[in-house]
Amino acid sequence: PARGTGASALTGVRSPGRAAVAARHLRTDRWWLQPAGTAAGLLAFVAYSVWRAFANADYYAAPYVSPFYSPCVAHDCVPMKGGADWDVFGGWWGLSPALLVLIFPLGFRLTCYYYRKAYYRGFWASPPACAVAEPHAKYTGETRLPLILQNVHRYFFYFALLVAGVLTYDTVLSFRDADGAWGHMGLGSLVFVVNIALIWAYTLSCHSCRHLIGGRLRHFSKHPVRYRLWGWVGKLNARHAQLAWASLVSVAVADFYVYLVASGVFGDPRFL
Ligand code: FES
Repeated sequence: PARGTGASALTGVRSPGRAAVAARHLRTDRWWLQPAGTAAGLLAFVAYSVWRAFANADYYAAPYVSPFYSPCVAHDCVPMKGGADWDVFGGWWGLSPALLVLIFPLGFRLTCYYYRKAYYRGFWASPPACAVAEPHAKYTGETRLPLILQNVHRYFFYFALLVAGVLTYDTVLSFRDADGAWGHMGLGSLVFVVNIALIWAYTLSCHSCRHLIGGRLRHFSKHPVRYRLWGWVGKLNARHAQLAWASLVSVAVADFYVYLVASGVFGDPRFL
């Protein structure tokens, strides 16, 4: 039976009908290197972002606001010069404002097709690598609760567009000086530009975005604009995994840069 439609006992590599190969795999290369590296990289990011998200400090050094805390929608956010007043939550929220906004990029990345592959392999060994049988007795893919909820990814894509829009706004604001005058450029402005370029590239390379733009069309010839856009997004989409990592690193670097400046470790070198 097709995966997920038959009795679960019939799924998995040990099911009747599959070749009876005793060895768990026949690979002779170091196949475990990739899932182990993936798990280590993701764990490092999770540890870093938990520390920063709960810190509730050192997230603003004019004109830079950390991407982990933007938009800062809590009542207790530090005052930001010339930034929009995003205080929409009132005084009842007592925890870090980062927790209010991080759920959107977190949900987007957690349900991302690439990250799913990465953490299914890295953390759950389900399966650990191509042509390596997984240790679990049965395999139902993403056909049951809770994994069927991964389908919400397409909706998180819309939130991710909003997040990218807000971070673009922050990047524009980073071209002011600490008093709000335009024409400033510091090392932080460059860090923000690189970060937002990678965030947009990752967001637009999303599989849901690709489908939204070019999916369900019968004739590309009747939709030349969408066809062209689909071609561009398709090129980005081929690099989705690399962009997922690059933007993950860049967002942490942008946050860490703001942390260093805000906590007084060093001053933002200015070019203009
Ligand atoms: Fe990775 Fe949508 S598939 S962000």
